Amino acid sequence: MNIIFHKESKQFHLSNDKISYILAVTPSGELGNMYFGKKIHDRNDMSYMLVRGGMPVVAVDADTESYAMELNRQEYPSFGTTDFGTQAFEVEQANGSRVTSFVYKSHAIFNGKKGLAGLPATYAAEDEAMTLEVELEDAVAEMTLVLSYTIFKDYAAVARHATFKNKGDSRVNLTRALSCCLDLPDQNYEWMQFSGGWARERIPDVKKLSTGTVAIESRRGASSANQNPFIIIKRPNTDEFSGEAIGLSFVYSGNFIALAEGNNYDRLRLLMGIHPDRFEWPLDRGQTFETPEVVIAMSSSGLNSLSQTYHKLYNNNLVRGKWKNRPRPILNNNWEATFMDFTEESILKIARKAKEAGVELFVLDDGWFGERNDDTAGLGDWVENPAKLPEGIAGLARKIKALGLDFGFWIEPEMVNPNSNLYRRHPDWVLAVPGRKSSLGRHQLVLDFSRQEVVDAIFDMLYKVIKDAPVSYIKWDMNRVLTEVYSLGSSADYQGTVYHRHIMGVYSLYEKLIKAFPDILFESCSSGGNRFDAGMLYYAPQAWCSDNTDAIDRVRIQYGSSYGYPIVSIGSHVSAVPNQQTGRSVSIRTRGNVAYFGTFGYELDLNEISDAEFETVKKQVEFMKANRELIQFGTFYRLRSPFESDQSAWMVVSEDRKKAIAGFYCMRSRVNTLPGFLKLAGLNADLVYTMEGREFYGDELMNSGCPLALFSGPEFSVSEDFASFVTVIEAK
Ligand code: DGJ
Repeated sequence: MNIIFHKESKQFHLSNDKISYILAVTPSGELGNMYFGKKIHDRNDMSYMLVRGGMPVVAVDADTESYAMELNRQEYPSFGTTDFGTQAFEVEQANGSRVTSFVYKSHAIFNGKKGLAGLPATYAAEDEAMTLEVELEDAVAEMTLVLSYTIFKDYAAVARHATFKNKGDSRVNLTRALSCCLDLPDQNYEWMQFSGGWARERIPDVKKLSTGTVAIESRRGASSANQNPFIIIKRPNTDEFSGEAIGLSFVYSGNFIALAEGNNYDRLRLLMGIHPDRFEWPLDRGQTFETPEVVIAMSSSGLNSLSQTYHKLYNNNLVRGKWKNRPRPILNNNWEATFMDFTEESILKIARKAKEAGVELFVLDDGWFGERNDDTAGLGDWVENPAKLPEGIAGLARKIKALGLDFGFWIEPEMVNPNSNLYRRHPDWVLAVPGRKSSLGRHQLVLDFSRQEVVDAIFDMLYKVIKDAPVSYIKWDMNRVLTEVYSLGSSADYQGTVYHRHIMGVYSLYEKLIKAFPDILFESCSSGGNRFDAGMLYYAPQAWCSDNTDAIDRVRIQYGSSYGYPIVSIGSHVSAVPNQQTGRSVSIRTRGNVAYFGTFGYELDLNEISDAEFETVKKQVEFMKANRELIQFGTFYRLRSPFESDQSAWMVVSEDRKKAIAGFYCMRSRVNTLPGFLKLAGLNADLVYTMEGREFYGDELMNSGCPLALFSGPEFSVSEDFASFVTVIEAK
């Protein structure tokens, strides 16, 4: 890893063994991109890359009369001069002008990486990354802009963000401040987004790029299940194992935009950042605004390799604390078993059976507090309901502990029901516009977390519940999107800051709880996967992936999630059948075979299943305990896409490539067909592996493929709906 500065050409070359990112001060003084891709040799001067001279009807820089931004690749394009593409930022100045030109002033190169104040971000020790900060200045606007680039030693990835500072006496108004721009020299790419909605999250959607704009966005206040804040662009021939691909992953959980724009001179522009709609950030003298971070990753060997970069980088340099790289406890959650209708005794009954199955953690879901007997009341009243928990959370937690299980519970701290004591006491603590009615979602309103006193009050209530209880896990839910976003805590000029300050408030509550209770494992949740993003992983190392727990739908949802997120971050449980969301009945075996590829647990009352199924559950728990380190932290490969066929397969391989586990799923039966072969990946070609009691060379399994006939038997057949197998492949 290195960052070289060539003084003469004012060119910066960031590189590691895998990639090069080259940028330079352009003839207009602004920063331009020279190259991003597979590692290339360093050169003193790559200005041959620049297009000099005009074209008909383009505007050129007045000093040189030869440089048009529009014909070149920019690092952080501004509005108003010679680039007519979508800009990365916009500043409204005191005289009403929005034209800016930030030119090179200075730079710093250092080992490691700085944190972002109050925001989630990747982190790195001095020997893990190097950072370049380029300071640019607009003398007329009296502002500086620092563009920050971190290159990681071991990953084909660069983290970027921008920081604005007002140095003048007049107030300026940032009306757009995206986190990064990546301009590329051609448009022969496909765009891949991960879209959906409740119970159908992160389904890949691919389209061809050309001139014009393709964008995904959220204006819901949460990153959303509708569009995940992660995109890939790939060459049309790129598949899982070959070809170029670039990913942009937003380390942020609120409103966002991700955009690809092809101009008419072959340039492809990628932008990602906080959604500029309803965003305004006033800056007075000396004040700064720091954008969230985007992690740009690159692969020249297919999509699996791109995903593996994100998996490893996020596990090692984004997730923090005790649970970083630590296998996750197998849990039993009572939600789908009881909903809010439970007593301490009914909960203990479920927990006792869970313990018998070998489960390690019991999680009490929604309904333990206030007047919370259905979803119309109680949110905001974080005090135990004595009718359900006579000795409170602490009493129940101690009883669960005495059974030999760890204890965790559910909260939804950002919300309040109008029917709650908190709302009756503080009706002004919600996001709402005076004089207008407030839209509801699941009978609830959103607390105004842009106000510190609101965050502090919720913290105090939760602190009291947690402090005397042996709590080792918290599921943090968030079940509605933001509407009528207005804060009584902010003056008119600052209403445009509220969306962002609200999510900063959410982060600050996480930070306070993590500080107070550093050993607690947080799982984020938002009606399933409505806020499944890299920002959340900084606080909660795992996320409930979807409220859709149907194993067949889950293959798709987990497969789609694996493109941008580590397997260990994917909350996945076995639930009861018929499935509550789809009505489908899938065997306990297949439900387990899907749920293994994530955090693993049960979302049902194990007293309610048959003895034979319970025996299977015991074996599943045993299997997961023996293999979770490999499953959750091994190198993950997607092998067969459930979006392209009625079968799916994936596998994980250990670091030393001596052990692997593969999962294969028949979503629908194939009548009158042969089982066929499944090509495995990531093994050592020369090693002999045993699989199902037979021996194979690694190269056989990867090239000729694993014969699926080997698995045909009473428990698996490709001519059966919802059949599956999971197999262990071990070097001799
Ligand atoms: C939505 C979550 O996704 C569910 O798992 C459950 O926790 C409910 N909320 C509880 O209200």
